[in-house]
Amino acid sequence: MATKKTTRKAAEIREEAPVEVVKTAPAAEEQPTGISVEAKKKILFVASEAAPFIATGGLAEVIGSLSKALAKEERYDVRVILPLYQDIKKEYRKDFRFIGNIFVPLSWRNQYCGIFKYEKDNVTYYFVDNEYYFKRPGCYGYYDDGERFAFFCRSVMEILGFIGFYPDVLHCHDWQAALAALYLKTIYCFRPEYQFIRAVFTIHNIEYQGKYSLDILEDLFGISYRFQYLVEYDHCINLMKGAIECCERFSTVSPTYAGEIKDPYYAHGLDGIVRRNEFKLTGILNGIDPDYYDPATDRSLFANYSAENLAPKAVCKEELQKMLNLPVKADTPIVAMISRLVAHKGLDLVKEVIEQALRQDMQFVLLGTGDSVYENYFSDLARRYPGKVVSVISFNSDLSRKIYAGADLFLMPSKSEPCGLSQMIASRYGTIAIVRETGGLRDSIVPYGAGGNGFTFHDYNAHDMLYVLNEALAVYRNKDEWKQLVVKAMTTDFTWGKSARNYAELYESMLK
Ligand code: GLC
Repeated sequence: MATKKTTRKAAEIREEAPVEVVKTAPAAEEQPTGISVEAKKKILFVASEAAPFIATGGLAEVIGSLSKALAKEERYDVRVILPLYQDIKKEYRKDFRFIGNIFVPLSWRNQYCGIFKYEKDNVTYYFVDNEYYFKRPGCYGYYDDGERFAFFCRSVMEILGFIGFYPDVLHCHDWQAALAALYLKTIYCFRPEYQFIRAVFTIHNIEYQGKYSLDILEDLFGISYRFQYLVEYDHCINLMKGAIECCERFSTVSPTYAGEIKDPYYAHGLDGIVRRNEFKLTGILNGIDPDYYDPATDRSLFANYSAENLAPKAVCKEELQKMLNLPVKADTPIVAMISRLVAHKGLDLVKEVIEQALRQDMQFVLLGTGDSVYENYFSDLARRYPGKVVSVISFNSDLSRKIYAGADLFLMPSKSEPCGLSQMIASRYGTIAIVRETGGLRDSIVPYGAGGNGFTFHDYNAHDMLYVLNEALAVYRNKDEWKQLVVKAMTTDFTWGKSARNYAELYESMLK
């Protein structure tokens, strides 16, 4: 019954969108133009979100911008597959093209799967449609997330056959895509077309592993108990562990984090598995899309500026102060935080010493949502320090850009940070990062004392953080020195260039 209902609803969607319905017989995909199709290596990203379609965090930005960067290389045919969530932006959705539907077997279920296609920046996107699973607000947080992403991953495998596209590399991101690799290695690799597909798994955050009761391995995930040893960890199904075990290679989003996840302090229980598979682990630093984050063209900003023409950054600051009801003072430094309000972002350090810091001439601006203990703390702080502290408890991309541009310092004292993108965005907007030396923060921000682009501290210690904040404020007061530092931060290369080459090397090493 459920299947019928799902099918009918999906048919309604098709009517909403201007779609071109094709026959459901396996359709050999039209091939992209450019260099000879056979010569192109086929890369398929499997992920649960991608900018600009749907984003809840850094993962989306990386999928959107890395795929675009790789697709610039003529030798790659890059495609991305995502669930068709209800919240996918209408402006894009209206141009999605329906290319057919199939039924996807998953244990005893047989579920409708509509397939939509869209092309952007040389990347082909596919969207997996099933309203029962994805017509809900947001991306995650449902009691049946395991089943939803199992359906998604199993659909990926089936869709490959339907469109006749067998990638050289199946690149799965985070636990939601882990089952795609597991299905490949336990079920599909026995079929001739799938047997040469190599799999890479990228960990964007080891904290979220996809853990479920072993009881549902066959019934819900459709994986035979003879493969239990692959996914079992700590008496549970652990999908991230399964993907690490069965992929040819696995990676994470910075070289430092690749080292850290071998250590129990960072690994959330998986350090033993990481160490055992260390021989196939790589750490590649994320980049950002320089066109998407460009203070010279960003339409959210009150004024545009660049490293060559810095003066309008002062306008951004003045207007931000006005907007946030802060006293308009050009020489008072604004220290900003834009962050999910969760423990590993280092908020406890901030709580510990921010009031001490606020004794000096500075303004503190915080933007973010998260755990209520932090939301309440920062709202209360703002009430107690009117004219000095502003806490905006929401997620607002337009305001975040205004803050990146209008602030002077950007605080990111994370306890752990696989990569972090905010420190790179802030730097690109000439706002100097103060970071703890962990994960990608350590790999992207070099201490000022060593001729670098920001300020760093090593231990997870509130007073060490306060010490470097004070050091930064002292440098701020020296206008010439500060300007040089701002230019240095703005001209640091945070683009995908080198990292995309590293991914290319990773792929090539697997395809030899
Ligand atoms: C996760 C990590 C973050 C990283 C992002 C993209 O959100 O927490 O550090 O930058 O993924 O890889």
